[in-house]
Amino acid sequence: MGSSSLSSIARRLEGKVALITGGASGLGKCTAELFRRHGAKVMIADIKDDLAHSVCQDIGPTSASFVHCDVTNESDVQDAVNTTVSKYGALHIMFNNAGIMSALKPKLPNILHDDKADFERVLSVNVTGVFLGTKHAARVMIPARSGSIINTASVCSVVGAVAPHSYTASKHAVQGLTKNTAVDLGRFGIRVNSVSPYVVLTSMAKELIKATDLPEEVYSNLKGTELKPEDVAEAALYLGSDESKYVSGHNLVVDGGFTITNSAFTIYDQQKDPLN
Ligand SMILES: NC(=O)c1ccc[n+]([C@@H]2O[C@H](COP(=O)([O-])OP(=O)(O)OC[C@H]3O[C@@H](n4cnc5c(N)ncnc54)[C@H](O)[C@@H]3O)[C@@H](O)[C@H]2O)c1
Repeated sequence: MGSSSLSSIARRLEGKVALITGGASGLGKCTAELFRRHGAKVMIADIKDDLAHSVCQDIGPTSASFVHCDVTNESDVQDAVNTTVSKYGALHIMFNNAGIMSALKPKLPNILHDDKADFERVLSVNVTGVFLGTKHAARVMIPARSGSIINTASVCSVVGAVAPHSYTASKHAVQGLTKNTAVDLGRFGIRVNSVSPYVVLTSMAKELIKATDLPEEVYSNLKGTELKPEDVAEAALYLGSDESKYVSGHNLVVDGGFTITNSAFTIYDQQKDPLN
């Protein structure tokens, strides 16, 4: 759908500038496309230069650009924020979305097989990356006294045993960082929230499914629908837009009720249809 198909009233990010880390693929790419359709200028920050360039070509070079940025490297993140401001004049939305999964050993994860270097690598991208993105976005948002920072967490920020230890630890940490920075930056009119998806079949999720022999069809409580990257992008759109102007410190879980269901103990028979 081109931006021309959305009227100016329907465009919820008209005049806004967004920086999206991990925007070269998966959820970040889908969000970049949706933000652009809603009138935003988008800067994609990623380590996959070729992929990011082709995403910008698809979105349209007048609305999207790319800056090489490893989110674990402070000068890269600083440069990504500065490049966004010098190219588009401001930074209204920071989407700290880049993330990685642990290097998966075949079959089921087990702490005895986990190594420290891999644990630290996951925390470095998933947590330090969010810290640096928040810090440098805040540097330019504080003088403007406004802004929306969105962090991609996961259902692994709420429950255990869905992913390896490093990933679960990292996403709980993202949640802690979201709350703490929401309090800090709320003083300057800046909102900080997170979005927490259940499994979406991007390259990352496919790797996890392959390594653990999980079925490709993942189950949640909500029947008749399936989680798509667009659903996560819509959640980010809400948090980035003025519709959520009083929402801060919130973890917007997009999981069809997965994290509120205790599959080991429920009085509702998940298989049974009461009308049949
Ligand atoms: N796919 C899922 O099921 C799922 C569920 C919950 C949360 N998430 C989270 O969503 C976010 C996006 O993941 P995805 O599923 O789109 O995966 P993806 O692998 O398709 O995309 C991740 C992107 O991040 C980039 N990236 C990785 N390391 C980076 C670094 N150091 N600096 C900059 N960019 C880097 C990659 O190049 C890639 O473009 C992640 O934070 C992930 O943890 C994904």
